[in-house]
Amino acid sequence: MQPDPPVDARAIARLEAVSKTYEMGEVEVRALHEVSMTIRAGEMVAIMGASGSGKSTMLNLLGTLDRPTSGRYFLDGEPVEDLDEYELSRLRNRKIGFVFQSFNLLPRDSALSNVELPMVYAQVRSSQRRQRAEDALVRVGLGDRIEHLPNQLSGGQQQRVSIARAIVNQPVILLADEPTGALDTTTTKQVMELFCDLHAQGMTVVVVTHDPNIASYAGRVVRFQDGVIVSDEKTPRSGPPGSDGGVAQ
Ligand SMILES: Nc1ncnc2c1ncn2[C@@H]1O[C@H](COP(=O)(O)OP(=O)(O)OP(=O)(O)O)[C@@H](O)[C@H]1O
Ligand SMILES: [Mg+2]
Repeated sequence: MQPDPPVDARAIARLEAVSKTYEMGEVEVRALHEVSMTIRAGEMVAIMGASGSGKSTMLNLLGTLDRPTSGRYFLDGEPVEDLDEYELSRLRNRKIGFVFQSFNLLPRDSALSNVELPMVYAQVRSSQRRQRAEDALVRVGLGDRIEHLPNQLSGGQQQRVSIARAIVNQPVILLADEPTGALDTTTTKQVMELFCDLHAQGMTVVVVTHDPNIASYAGRVVRFQDGVIVSDEKTPRSGPPGSDGGVAQ
């Protein structure tokens, strides 16, 4: 039994006995099996586990990119199973920020246009879009690169553009699947420090990673094995070994 969480921390994501099974012809692949877990406002959570253990499946369910085969999922208090595709995409657009290993930027659009895109879907007026996109790019340290195309930016800068795009609609949760998988050590540190800054400013963050160094930035580490949670631990402090402590919780 886990101790009760503090009452003032709102549950941003709550999974109740969630399973995900993929049908592959005759064969069923059980990617997640009756996983229950709550992510509270302001947490930074690392999801770890071997390849194939269910981490991306978990993140895709949290992000409503995929639906559970059974079990219930509440996003910011709202059960998502009753929503149709249109309602779900609106909810996703307003409440969730995604960051992927491969950045997923539109190659022919400037950093600014890439960051504006989620606001186009959210029907933010164009006069406001530009300002908010610029503000988000300044926030990730790219105020002097707004007109650059993705291929005119370094890998770390491209990932920062994708983080700006993920936060521009002020989501309630930021989900990142191996966000530093394509980056070198120095750039990895910069990108992780950016996630920590956002977390320190109140963002709820979930990061999937293989790298224990990266997990050490998070206040909580959840480990998966064969589609179930095998451990869920608070870490004593934020920040990687050798850092001077990290962010306020
Ligand atoms: N679309 C799919 N169709 C069928 N099986 C799938 C699908 N997506 C994932 N799986 C299977 O579900 C299991 C969990 O996959 P998942 O992608 O969640 O693993 P992971 O922990 O993210 O692994 P990695 O560290 O390699 O990214 C695997 O056995 C995988 O083969
Ligand atoms: Mg994965």
